Amino acid sequence: MKNLFLLDKEITFLNFGSFGACPKEIFDDYINWQYLLEKEPVQYITVDGYAYLKKSKEALATYINCNAEDLVFVPNPTHAFNILAKNLLLNPGDEILTTSLEYGAMDKTWEYYCEKAGAKYVRQHISLPILSKENFIQEFWKGYSDKTKYIFISQITSSTALILPVKEICEEAKKRGLITIVDGAHVPGHIDLNLSELQADYYTGACHKWMMTPKGCSFLYVEKELQDNLDPLIISWGFKSINPSDSKFFDYHQFNGTRDFSAYLTVPKAIEFMNKYDWNSVSENCKKRVLENAPKLFDFLKTTALAPLNTDFFGQICSAKIQTAEPEKLQRLLFEKYKIEIPVMRHGKGCYIRFSFQAFNESSEIDYLIQSLSEIKKETNLF
Ligand SMILES: Cc1ncc(COP(=O)(O)O)c(C=O)c1O
Repeated sequence: MKNLFLLDKEITFLNFGSFGACPKEIFDDYINWQYLLEKEPVQYITVDGYAYLKKSKEALATYINCNAEDLVFVPNPTHAFNILAKNLLLNPGDEILTTSLEYGAMDKTWEYYCEKAGAKYVRQHISLPILSKENFIQEFWKGYSDKTKYIFISQITSSTALILPVKEICEEAKKRGLITIVDGAHVPGHIDLNLSELQADYYTGACHKWMMTPKGCSFLYVEKELQDNLDPLIISWGFKSINPSDSKFFDYHQFNGTRDFSAYLTVPKAIEFMNKYDWNSVSENCKKRVLENAPKLFDFLKTTALAPLNTDFFGQICSAKIQTAEPEKLQRLLFEKYKIEIPVMRHGKGCYIRFSFQAFNESSEIDYLIQSLSEIKKETNLF
């Protein structure tokens, strides 16, 4: 399976979570779009681009079960959340309720805009290990107050690599009259995503992680009633457009000045690729391997799973707590000496090492990771 990818075969690649990796077939499609662009840039960007984007968005919408009109492409989730954070009508004292498990750059975005508005970003502490869905939900809502206006939550967390019960949170939020913003950066192509069932008000996902498109392909989904009030981050021709489409949401957000949007157009190819290789089964098998292999790493690190070890909480990534004062050095050493690509991340007061399992990984690679860590432990005082 590794032959399908462009990855360096010398590297034990256990970090699919950070930036995915693009199979050759999908990357070739990307390059073909770029050739087409350079063959006739004006037609591609100003005329045909609309139709290309529409087709790609329709394929994505079918894949994640929503209406194509409720999606726009964005380069990455950070971009999507910056659109949202800039637009939230936050008043002094308002609160955004979130968890203590969110991605650092997103915490920074919300903190920045909350500080500006005099609002509060409430990072409800989540105890680890999570004992059950019910326990998580109960603990999460302890952060609620009559000032809470928005919920921001990851469907799969980054450094702790946990699937959170976001559907249940969205349902309860609706009952309480709150707007929900879901960070699904790790979700598309990783676990089932059905936006019509989930009923989040805003949702973003990256296609360049587990859907394996080239980098710079993500989406923002917005509930219909909320679309008109959303200013774009960058004002361009879509404002008071002389040639408007049938959607202000699309006009405002889809064109931000001259850029190569070929990555957006590879979604149909990525879906075709996943169908061709029966990626549902591939992914199921990887999830099984994660559950089988994780205990070996936990035992070695004398730690336990961050949640019950089952597919309610774990997908194709899994994190273990590691006691190190220098995670960056440890990560560098694993790469330079052992040729293992794996993130070792600080989060809150702890550090976590996160392995991924993709089509090309084998259980023996987790054994090699443990062997390498064992050697490092003997030879250094890094952990
Ligand atoms: C949970 C989560 N949210 C958001 C992001 C941001 O993604 P990007 O840097 O592509 O905008 C990441 C990145 O890995 C993430 O893990």
